[in-house]
Amino acid sequence: MKHLLSPLDLSVDETEDLLNLASRIAKNPEKFSHCCDGKKLATLFYEPSTRTRLSFEAAMINLGGSVLGFSSADSSSASKGESVSDTIRVISCYADICAMRHPKEGAPMVAAEKSGIPVINAGDGGHQHPTQTLTDLMTIRELRGSLDNFTIGLCGDLKFGRTVHSLIRSLIRYKNVKFILISPKELRVPDYIREDVLIHNNVEFEEVERLEDVIPQLDILYMTRVQKERFFSEDEYLRMKDFYILNKEKMAAAKDNMYVLHPLPRVNEISVEIDDDPRAAYFKQVQFGVYVRMALILTLLGLDKTV
Ligand code: CP
Repeated sequence: MKHLLSPLDLSVDETEDLLNLASRIAKNPEKFSHCCDGKKLATLFYEPSTRTRLSFEAAMINLGGSVLGFSSADSSSASKGESVSDTIRVISCYADICAMRHPKEGAPMVAAEKSGIPVINAGDGGHQHPTQTLTDLMTIRELRGSLDNFTIGLCGDLKFGRTVHSLIRSLIRYKNVKFILISPKELRVPDYIREDVLIHNNVEFEEVERLEDVIPQLDILYMTRVQKERFFSEDEYLRMKDFYILNKEKMAAAKDNMYVLHPLPRVNEISVEIDDDPRAAYFKQVQFGVYVRMALILTLLGLDKTV
């Protein structure tokens, strides 16, 4: 059985196959509308979500399957003290595949060890968010035509932002991708990303504080929200939360073909005045997230070769 716990659970070739399938789905979603007839997806969300949970559910419904699950720990027996291991053994009797989001880093890995069905990590604490990474990869590939040869600026909360950690791990596997890490010093990427991923793999990167200084160099600008829920101190969050606000003035210095991505939700870090700029790609990214999750469900259920 195969799970998706980290973006590296898929090789570059497997990722390419999955993105090709997602692109085929994007061109003709109707063709796939009965692929999962009779199959069930469980969404086990111990943490809030709009996009990830609902896009998984939309993906399974689009494939002809059904969905069940819970959207908060409070509405599940976790509130009575049930362990993740016990919960997944139970869910394995009800569903064919599951997506789990949990505030504790590693919880989906614990689940996978006891699971009778494929487990998809839908975000674990500040650790990883592999299906957001697949969504980001599809978006970059659809917009630029390739995942090689570009400069990406990752801006905002690089310390707690799990989407950033997963995306860096995945993008270092492509050719000539340069990283510019833009954050206040308090929110720089953790050492295990800087040392163990970037430096260890001889990846070209720089760390800067001012977005204005580097925006003209970027092909992709990946904005992120300051992760309020991961701060220990409210005062510290308030001091950091509006550190970056992408507005028309900053966009004027960017390339005409630079694209702005954001995993969403956004708070203040992208001004709404940017939404109509043709370079704003974050709502397209949301749509690609559905196609990627349809492709992932088909792949993990072993149905990808039948379509
Ligand atoms: N991008 C993302 O994970 O959004 P949600 O928290 O709404 O699922």
